[in-house]
Amino acid sequence: MKTLSIGIAGLGTVAQGVLMLLASNRALIEQRSGVSVNVVRVASRSAKPDVDLHGADFSTDVMDLLSDPRVDVIVELIGGETLAKELIVAALNNGKAVVTANKAVIALHGNELPRQRLRFEAAVAGAIPIIQAFQYGLVANQFSALSGIINGTCNYMLSAMESEGVDFDAILERAQALGYAEADPSFDVDGIDAAHKLTILMALAFGTDFEFDKVYVEGIRAITPKDISYATELGYRIKHLGILRSNADGIEARVHPTLVAQSELVAHVNGVLNAVQVVSDAAGKTLFSGPGAGGAATASAVVADIIATALHPEQTAGDSSSSRSIPIMPIEKISSAYYLRIPTRDEPGVFAEVTQILSSHNINLDAVIQKDSHAQGGSVDIVILTEDIQEAQMHEALAQLEALATVTAPVMRIRVAPQD
Ligand SMILES: NC(=O)c1ccc[n+]([C@@H]2O[C@H](COP(=O)([O-])OP(=O)(O)OC[C@H]3O[C@@H](n4cnc5c(N)ncnc54)[C@H](OP(=O)(O)O)[C@@H]3O)[C@@H](O)[C@H]2O)c1
Repeated sequence: MKTLSIGIAGLGTVAQGVLMLLASNRALIEQRSGVSVNVVRVASRSAKPDVDLHGADFSTDVMDLLSDPRVDVIVELIGGETLAKELIVAALNNGKAVVTANKAVIALHGNELPRQRLRFEAAVAGAIPIIQAFQYGLVANQFSALSGIINGTCNYMLSAMESEGVDFDAILERAQALGYAEADPSFDVDGIDAAHKLTILMALAFGTDFEFDKVYVEGIRAITPKDISYATELGYRIKHLGILRSNADGIEARVHPTLVAQSELVAHVNGVLNAVQVVSDAAGKTLFSGPGAGGAATASAVVADIIATALHPEQTAGDSSSSRSIPIMPIEKISSAYYLRIPTRDEPGVFAEVTQILSSHNINLDAVIQKDSHAQGGSVDIVILTEDIQEAQMHEALAQLEALATVTAPVMRIRVAPQD
């Protein structure tokens, strides 16, 4: 039996989950892995007398974990960027291994960190073992595309907007009351959290650097129940997706609301669940789905990393040796099909004006619905699905459409998921 002594930084949701899981499933974990994990020290800002530390020492300064000679692995679960990064760097420089759930530190500072003895499975999609899938189960594959629901808050909100017909503000209030959204929800609903995770997935699946700044990001604030209902009518659902695709010009890396065909499995992943679909050359399409957050679910991934550290101490996370010169494509260069909702005056000739502009930009139509008016004070929504067109072309067409006197409000445009 190998023995590993760990020190945990933080005593919040995930840290408590780790303490509980290591205690409740100790025998099972030892039997399966041949590794015995002892928590020798916990360090966090404030003591929590109600939490059972199972005999571990406690201190309020997380840097105490560095000077404790018993600690082999530091498990960083304080969150935030500055102190967490300092702790991780100092731990690695001191010869300790690190396990972290901190997506922000890895996405924003991953290039400055040595990859050896650093693991971060829990930073992406909570309980879903997607990083271990890249390292083990799918290790023989080249990946061509990945798309995922990687923010549970957005997925909960969009699912509820669809099933109940409620608008963004109402559902945000409820998500906050249920603890699914923070008091300041911007990190989740504006797509930043998902972009952190996509940055990590991109580095691991495609061998790029951690290039958060090059990921295109849009959140879900602009989505209305109307768009969800029109999408349904057209055979789609609106999901907030992170998308990676490898093509001749580089890697597409984007996070935005997306129309997903109802025939796709991802379209049926609802509520706070996450899902990651990977397209690989040998394995084909694989879909991983499960809880993306929560104390116990996230602890499951943290403990898996702790065990992997004991079993494969020198293994690096992802492919750090491959070329780093892979370009990441600007959004203007990406081609996509689009959903457009064009609010127009209810007048003859408007539809012809709209289609004339689209056709002058080589934008072909795939489906059209026109929604009439009376409930909308004499306006009509022209709803269009286009075929694939480059983003830059679409921008030009939208500017011309919005300049029409008969178009009464900004055009809503949502990209359609690529057919991978
Ligand atoms: N919660 C999830 O479902 C989930 C899922 C995936 C990944 N993660 C990631 O896991 C990490 C931890 O998340 P969490 O939800 O467990 O957070 P949390 O509940 O807020 O817990 C953070 C803990 O760290 C302590 N802490 C914060 N700043 C500190 C400092 N400067 N010095 C000492 N201790 C400090 C806090 O102390 P106090 O108790 O005094 O506040 C608290 O005990 C984050 O990086 C998060 O992104 C979380």
